[in-house]
Amino acid sequence: MIVCVCKSVSDRTIRASIAEGMDSFDELQFELGVATCCGKCEESVREVMAQSGACATHCGVSHARPAAMPQAVPLTFYERKAA
Ligand code: FES
Repeated sequence: MIVCVCKSVSDRTIRASIAEGMDSFDELQFELGVATCCGKCEESVREVMAQSGACATHCGVSHARPAAMPQAVPLTFYERKAA
């Protein structure tokens, strides 16, 4: 299903990108161009992220982590690629 009509990005593409390590809305927006034109797809992109277990906020932190564990500062997709 097409999520972003302006950039012709499907939920499959978003899920594949998340599986490759993009776990923030900003990364998906930068790499795929979602929500960079009319912006009407932002909520749908965030829903796909939530369904895929990625953080739908801008923080990039997985919310599946128990609250008692210390919160590490997450690396961005690009930092992980560079490492
Ligand atoms: S539908 Fe995604 S930017 Fe317009």
